[in-house]
Amino acid sequence: MGINITFSKTTRKAQDTAVIVVYSDKKLNNQAADLDKKTGGFIKQALKNHGKFSGKNGETLALSLPEKSPFTQALLLGLGDASMLTPIKAEEAGGKLYMTLKQAGAENVTLFVDGHTKLKTVNEAELAAHIGNGIKLRSYTFDHYKSKKKDTKSALKSITVTTPPQAKAASLFKTLSSVSEGTFLARDLVNEPPNTLHPPHFAKTLQSELKPLGVEVKILDEKEMKKLGMGAILAVGMGSDQPPRMVIMRWKGNKNDKSAPVAFVGKGVTFDTGGISIKPAGGMDEMKMDMGGAAAVCGLMKSLALRKSKANVIGIVGLAENMPSAKAYRPGDIVKSLSGKTIEVLNTDAEGRLVLADCLTYVQKTYKPRMIIDLATLTGAMMVALGHEYCGSFVNDNSLWEKMEKASAISGEKLWRMPLDPLWKQEMESATADLQNLGKTRYAGACTAAGFLEHFIEGKTPWAHMDIAGTAWRKSDKPTSPRFGTGFGVRVLDRLVADNYEKK
Ligand code: BES
Ligand code: ZN
Ligand code: ZN
Repeated sequence: MGINITFSKTTRKAQDTAVIVVYSDKKLNNQAADLDKKTGGFIKQALKNHGKFSGKNGETLALSLPEKSPFTQALLLGLGDASMLTPIKAEEAGGKLYMTLKQAGAENVTLFVDGHTKLKTVNEAELAAHIGNGIKLRSYTFDHYKSKKKDTKSALKSITVTTPPQAKAASLFKTLSSVSEGTFLARDLVNEPPNTLHPPHFAKTLQSELKPLGVEVKILDEKEMKKLGMGAILAVGMGSDQPPRMVIMRWKGNKNDKSAPVAFVGKGVTFDTGGISIKPAGGMDEMKMDMGGAAAVCGLMKSLALRKSKANVIGIVGLAENMPSAKAYRPGDIVKSLSGKTIEVLNTDAEGRLVLADCLTYVQKTYKPRMIIDLATLTGAMMVALGHEYCGSFVNDNSLWEKMEKASAISGEKLWRMPLDPLWKQEMESATADLQNLGKTRYAGACTAAGFLEHFIEGKTPWAHMDIAGTAWRKSDKPTSPRFGTGFGVRVLDRLVADNYEKK
């Protein structure tokens, strides 16, 4: 069960833990000063005695309060320099606070956010809402495969944020929460093991998750895909007993907007063994995350629907399992993509680009979108280049990149622009077929992959390819994201849609 996070002007019920926000100046604000008085100056004294607690962002200090205090314990949460505080920093502090509250055995918590007069880049309502959202993002768990459930009796149950701009904070938190719920769907899909989350099951999950929210969900099965001529994605799925699927999701948030929709495309390789060009055994289990792009697109659709976005958006995911078998596609095969272009397969482990190729063609032919962004855990090379922190983004349009950069700065999901050079596009031409799925050298692997995809973008459609190989999955915690599936992409793309493609 999740934590109940609410906003209130005053403290109502008896709570066990009070959270006091402290900046680098270590001054106590209204409610905190009041509590200090009620405890006979205990908190101020503790601040003085604990020389180590400096109030820097995310720092915490738990204090057992004297008997007869209104709370059993107080937890000091550092937020650093008030004038430098941003929504992202507030979320990170919220994430760290969540972990400390859990360790301190807090159950029902009051968080004071009032009297913050020195804020510049965030107001009090935003501060309250973003700390709340940081707590929410960090509280995500994926434990339904654990037979023994953790003791939930003494778990963190509720957080009441007491803040004067209560209504504003609550309404902003509601919007942020919708995006977090979308992020959780993406995390769940990435964390789900590949024996359950194969393409047909993935497609059905989308139907049950998104249809009730008003998202149209259309599933193409392998027969329809064959009929349409999707030879690229079908080749990838051939080795598996679980047939491929393509799922088209549509959110019509604005019936009056007659302009073309925007489209998001996701690579959904539910497990990537490499196929006949098989991967080494070590760490292969992690290749269940090779559907992280598809997961992000689905999470985005969920967040748009939950917050009733006034945009018209298409989401398409190509779902296939890349397995070696007697039926599998081979290195040397030449396949015909939906676009009509033939592709020589030189390595069956470069399968993501084949999946994306047919999705890109389908979305352009069917919906003529005004903008396309694809997300894919496409290359190990991307991870080598930018690690887990930045998502390399290849963009053919400067104005689209500007929008993405802004959305990235606001959401905190970091993007870095990568080059699209005509030379790499050219490098993907084959001697025997129209294209080949491998570069001519082993260098610039993320860039040649982008060059391959560029062959499937028609005309001058603004397009971005986000290689999330490094950002979709990590083995260590971050303040607002516990280890494993991160849900990367949902937050930045939700922001992008909110700021650029919603007509009021
Ligand atoms: N899914 C992998 C890329 C990947 C690697 C994602 C590590 C996340 C972590 C992709 O299908 C792949 O295997 N790419 C190959 C391409 C190569 C054969 C040109 C790669 O990166 O090695
Ligand atoms: Zn692969
Ligand atoms: Zn892959």
